[in-house]
Amino acid sequence: MPSINFSKKSIIFITGASRGIGRTIAIELSRRLEQNSILILLARSEKGLEETKAQIGEVDKGITVQHYVTDFSKPNIDDYTKLIQKVLESVDTKGIELGMLFHNAGYVGTVKQTTDLTDITAWREYYDVNLFSVAMLNSIFIKKIRPVAPQLVVVNITSLVGRTPFANLAMYGSGKAARDIFFKVLATEEPNVVVFNYSPGPVDTDMFEYIVENAQSTEVQKSFKETRESSILTTAQTVNKMLELLEKGDFKSGDTIDYFDS
Ligand SMILES: NC(=O)c1ccc[n+]([C@@H]2O[C@H](COP(=O)([O-])OP(=O)(O)OC[C@H]3O[C@@H](n4cnc5c(N)ncnc54)[C@H](OP(=O)(O)O)[C@@H]3O)[C@@H](O)[C@H]2O)c1
Repeated sequence: MPSINFSKKSIIFITGASRGIGRTIAIELSRRLEQNSILILLARSEKGLEETKAQIGEVDKGITVQHYVTDFSKPNIDDYTKLIQKVLESVDTKGIELGMLFHNAGYVGTVKQTTDLTDITAWREYYDVNLFSVAMLNSIFIKKIRPVAPQLVVVNITSLVGRTPFANLAMYGSGKAARDIFFKVLATEEPNVVVFNYSPGPVDTDMFEYIVENAQSTEVQKSFKETRESSILTTAQTVNKMLELLEKGDFKSGDTIDYFDS
């Protein structure tokens, strides 16, 4: 694939930018971006988004950073259309060369064995946030940003759990697996969109801690604790690896690459 050059004027949307991996994507990108670029941060926590914005300010290169409090638990194409329209009306789109969307927001769902996953509301909420909102936002991003950005890139933050069975993680893994095939189909249909599925490895965030504390099986808790002691990554380690892979462009659109792949 063509390598992604972040030093061109860009408009970049990041979901789940209020903490964890999403916050670090925003900060590390801001170091690389051309100063007329635009970063759009999305999540529910206004405080978290403002903190991310403040940390970007420390890097300060004058890029435009906007944040929009957004709850992905109620996927709605009209809301996302209005959101992107509002962004486009408030920024100078002239000279934009790159449009990018990081599908990063998410949560781990119910961490129980499959036969105990019987709460249909929990299933629906999980899929609303982790799959259906992604499909809606992705569609409108491509339709609205294509006319203003000659190069479009979509990054799906996926997980090894979507490709390998992990006990207690059927809800989470099935959602990630569904997303992966969704984005592989997108890559097939849209030769002019670069699609990248990045699997960040085990990362020291609230999500990882949630599994350690809430997995139904003590064996699962123990194995995640062991990973936390032995091989957990910082958000900066995994995000920089992802950005380097994008800069090298050494993958085919639709590929899935894990932090630990050589
Ligand atoms: N940590 C790991 O080991 C690991 C491994 C593989 C893949 N991943 C993936 O990496 C991505 C980021 O995870 P993380 O570890 O950084 O988790 P995290 O620290 O828990 O952050 C999750 C982010 O998603 C946002 N979010 C959650 N529910 C939302 C909703 N309903 N509406 C809008 N935003 C919502 C949160 O923001 P608000 O709470 O402010 O809304 C937050 O910014 C996820 O897709 C996850 O599956 C993580």
